[in-house]
Amino acid sequence: MNTEIILVTGATGTVGSEVVRALTNRGATVRAGVHSIIKGDRLKHINPEVQLVEIDFERPETLTPAFTGVDRVFLLTPFTLNQVELARQLIDAAKAAGVKQVVRLSALGADAEPGIQLGRWHREIERYLELSGLSYVILRPGSFMQNFATYQAEGIQQHGAIHMPLGEGRISYIDVQDIAAVAAAILTDDPARHHGQAYALTGPQALSGHEVAQAIGQAVGREVRYIDLPEEAARQAMQGAPQWMTDAMIELNAVGKAGYSATVTSDVEQLAGRPARTIAEFARDNRQAFVPA
Ligand SMILES: NC(=O)c1ccc[n+]([C@@H]2O[C@H](COP(=O)([O-])OP(=O)(O)OC[C@H]3O[C@@H](n4cnc5c(N)ncnc54)[C@H](OP(=O)(O)O)[C@@H]3O)[C@@H](O)[C@H]2O)c1
Repeated sequence: MNTEIILVTGATGTVGSEVVRALTNRGATVRAGVHSIIKGDRLKHINPEVQLVEIDFERPETLTPAFTGVDRVFLLTPFTLNQVELARQLIDAAKAAGVKQVVRLSALGADAEPGIQLGRWHREIERYLELSGLSYVILRPGSFMQNFATYQAEGIQQHGAIHMPLGEGRISYIDVQDIAAVAAAILTDDPARHHGQAYALTGPQALSGHEVAQAIGQAVGREVRYIDLPEEAARQAMQGAPQWMTDAMIELNAVGKAGYSATVTSDVEQLAGRPARTIAEFARDNRQAFVPA
């Protein structure tokens, strides 16, 4: 077993839990930064040896104990209005602890000019990390395939339909397992090999809404349709969400509709050593999410 301690922040979330799994598969020593120890308990099913440490990003006093003794960090911040401030505090904590490498989860297009609000927040965090003096790697994944299991499952189960305001725009959706595989490969490799790199992580193809619906339909054995939502209907569907979040998502979708989220790269294959997962593989492995309980 590798004796370096790797801290994973956001460890119970969509990406973080897969990073814990991928690091475990590589025999790494994993410290999982969890919002609550009770929720973190589920990570013991992935890795009985995982060290659980409570981190509340909103309480900076929880960072020093969590970072003490850590060699490398997978740095993820949640989708909040104060994500830049939270990430800065985490980077400061990593620096104070003498961490050897930070692998930062950003987003595809963060470096676009003038870009969109979501990207600009990520880019601000990237810049802070770049200037920190720490050895760092930036991962910029595209939209997650897992979003379909989270946000579209009910529509698929109840109406056999995916609703998105994307027109005929194609998106190079990535399976989160691929992000985790890349992160784990880097976090267990020589830090000098990746220092200062920014990797654009995508799935193997840019897919239309119709193609995603077809793949999920095939996995569940029934027709699933894609319905292009007008922007106003998309806003209505997000009723209850904070205004800043709705605006950011509408802007992101408009970029996708215009064809700017269709970039496909080979970075996953090069770094993980295997091809990126297809939407058909994702749909097959997650079919339970799309069928009524
Ligand atoms: N979704 C996409 O398509 C996409 C694409 C590209 C990039 N991204 C980026 O991916 C990141 C989100 O990753 P994700 O989808 O894995 O997020 P997620 O599933 O929402 O998980 C967030 C994690 O952070 C934890 N957390 C939340 N608030 C916390 C706090 N105050 N203190 C400590 N922990 C806290 C959560 O724990 P609890 O649940 O216990 O609070 C959870 O473990 C964002 O930066 C986003 O911009 C997303």
